[in-house]
Amino acid sequence: MTRSALAAALRRQLHPRRARWQKPGAVVRALGLRRGQVVAEIGAGPGYFTPRLARAVGPSGHVYAVDPEAAVLAVLRGRLRRTRLRNVTPVLGRDDDALLPPGRCDLALLVNVYHHMREGAAFLRRLVPTLTRDARVVNIDWNEQSEWGPPPRRRVPRVRFLRDARRAGLRLIAEHRFLPHQYFLVLRRVR
Ligand SMILES: C[S@@+](CC[C@H](N)C(=O)[O-])C[C@H]1O[C@@H](n2cnc3c(N)ncnc32)[C@H](O)[C@@H]1O
Repeated sequence: MTRSALAAALRRQLHPRRARWQKPGAVVRALGLRRGQVVAEIGAGPGYFTPRLARAVGPSGHVYAVDPEAAVLAVLRGRLRRTRLRNVTPVLGRDDDALLPPGRCDLALLVNVYHHMREGAAFLRRLVPTLTRDARVVNIDWNEQSEWGPPPRRRVPRVRFLRDARRAGLRLIAEHRFLPHQYFLVLRRVR
């Protein structure tokens, strides 16, 4: 990605008008996070959700903000420095691996990320061992039929994500329908 394309993408992701359809407050409330929990924010980007997640888990909790793009993580670090938040660790992941410690995360959150992944199925398989036993994985990504979002051929249909997730040892336990352009799937590890 060129520097100007990256800058445009980051501006889009952080644009205040995004809140109208992304509903970040409602999304974080629906995650039902508790103080002290550990969140893996996969594909954190410049951190549209990161501060909200960090505040939801509080100083005794932690957020691993994972992204494979060093330039994106640099922007995230700069934004975090301007806050009082000290419970976020930016992590330079790999395309096929979040590179997180085993058995550590209570929630893995992916927002508009899975359709960017070149090796999504392998990524999910490697993500599962980083979760605690009762952890959840939440995937929010573009609906196939929404008029808003990336070109339809670049989207990952809900059923395809669920197939990859099932193969990685995850099962759907809930689904929220309050986002106008995205599906919102909640999964758990199969024991
Ligand atoms: C459209 S942005 C979404 C950023 C953020 N989640 C948000 O909702 O604003 C997609 C992000 O996923 C990252 N990404 C792409 N492939 C990834 C992978 N294999 N693992 C983790 N993140 C990835 C990209 O670098 C980019 O920052």
